[in-house]
Amino acid sequence: MTTSVVPAAGKGIRMNSDLPKALTPIAGKPIITWTIEALEQTPVVDAIVIVAPEDFLATFERLKHENGWQKVAAIVPGGEDRQQSVWNGLQAIPSETEWVVVHDAARPLVKPSLIVAVWEAANEIGTAAIAALPCTDTVKRTLDGILIAETLDREQIWLAQTPQVFAAELLKEAHEQAIKDGCLATDDAMLVERLGVPIRLVLGDPTNIKITHPDDLTLAEIFLTHKL
Ligand code: CTP
Ligand code: MG
Repeated sequence: MTTSVVPAAGKGIRMNSDLPKALTPIAGKPIITWTIEALEQTPVVDAIVIVAPEDFLATFERLKHENGWQKVAAIVPGGEDRQQSVWNGLQAIPSETEWVVVHDAARPLVKPSLIVAVWEAANEIGTAAIAALPCTDTVKRTLDGILIAETLDREQIWLAQTPQVFAAELLKEAHEQAIKDGCLATDDAMLVERLGVPIRLVLGDPTNIKITHPDDLTLAEIFLTHKL
């Protein structure tokens, strides 16, 4: 069985909106609705756990019933940071779960075909796989945000997206180890990397953007209008 954990509990501070980011509409539908619809349409995903902002659990429950989401097994409150939210979600996955698909609510344009491709790569290698894009810009490292410290070898840089797929026990172990070590990461792959386990890169999709700033709403609507 495969369960998707969807962190949706962020405040969306960079969006400058009173509404939590996951409830902000794109082309007339809340961001979370687009994201859950993609997961509902993904054949390899059997169940979904949504991690929602504590004060908006009732709103998310209402969306589940209004939209008839079949796979949504639980809606649980999030934590202080993304890592804590994913951890909360992991506590609610069905016990038969073999594979976990972590996918950010904030990437509503994800295509079911990409989720399947990452799931297949994870199954093939037996541990984990993530969607990522090779970097096309030249990459500078800086220590102070003012002066360049060095230029990194672009060929070695890939930008991580979600979906990220993990063997369920491995992901739980990675989170437990991170809690013990006081390690805070911005994605789940980083926690599994610390265990020295191989993780496959799968070519992501440039339209699978993370809605971060207000302008990203316009960009997402353009992608949707042009069916990109
Ligand atoms: N997230 C979460 N719980 C948190 C923080 C983030 O579930 N405490 C989720 C967000 O809802 C989002 C994903 O993690 O789907 C990626 O985070 P990000 O894009 O940074 O969203 P926010 O944290 O909401 O935005 P910001 O950092 O601008 O406040
Ligand atoms: Mg954030």
